[in-house]
Amino acid sequence: MNETQRNVILLGAPGAGKGTQAERIAAGYTLPHISTGEMLRAAVAEGTEMGLAAQKVMQAGALVPDEVVIGVVRDRLAQADAQKGFLLDGFPRTMEQAESLDAMLAEDGRPVTHVILIDVPEDELVERLAGRRMCAGCGKGYHVVFDPPQNEDACDVCGAELYQRSDDNEATVRNRLEVYRAQTEPLVGYYEGHDVLRTVYGGGKMPDEVYALVEQLLEGD
Ligand code: AP5
Repeated sequence: MNETQRNVILLGAPGAGKGTQAERIAAGYTLPHISTGEMLRAAVAEGTEMGLAAQKVMQAGALVPDEVVIGVVRDRLAQADAQKGFLLDGFPRTMEQAESLDAMLAEDGRPVTHVILIDVPEDELVERLAGRRMCAGCGKGYHVVFDPPQNEDACDVCGAELYQRSDDNEATVRNRLEVYRAQTEPLVGYYEGHDVLRTVYGGGKMPDEVYALVEQLLEGD
């Protein structure tokens, strides 16, 4: 690994494997993993004002208002551990979020260096989301077929119970995919225009195979 600063965005549809790859990238490159979905789920679990407002929106598979998410990310990127690089997972998701991110990074003179799009066919996305399980203790993700825990229903790392995310039901997944196509996919063209977008085809590949491709991109220009 070279010492270049990496300000990375992971882009991809729900279930593409952003969180799965983010765990590997964060460990491999010592980058803080900034997942807006995780931050919002934590706010819901804590019952904060923001969490209470976000809960219904997330349950429906829609997007939390831009100004809320932009504020959360602005605060997180200002923290000390994000000054030498960061890994954004699930943000930006709209053009307004992308433009706000560029503006806040321009103020600091630290542009986005890599936008990695993980491209996976829709039938695989649905299969992945239907089989996903999460650890209630440490948050580690599993899949009942592709990445099963050693003991059914218990986390390999901390032993806590596994659960299914409430937005991984069929109706919500369908809406999340539609919202992705309508509001987030246009960011592909936006980042192509900025010459920072690189695509990894993740269909039919296991997580470690996808990570090998991601590493090549992060080690490149
Ligand atoms: P968020 O938590 O960001 O969800 P998402 O984007 O829908 O993505 P997922 O977490 O579902 O999928 P992933 O790509 O991380 O896949 P994973 O690695 O888990 O957002 C949730 C909600 O919060 C949104 O709907 C919205 O309401 C709100 N929100 C968040 N950010 C927002 C923003 N910026 N603006 C507004 N609202 C926002 O993998 C999925 C499964 O597949 C796992 O089981 C995994 O084990 C398995 N898997 C992974 N890779 C592979 C592989 N290569 N082969 C086989 N299986 C695999």
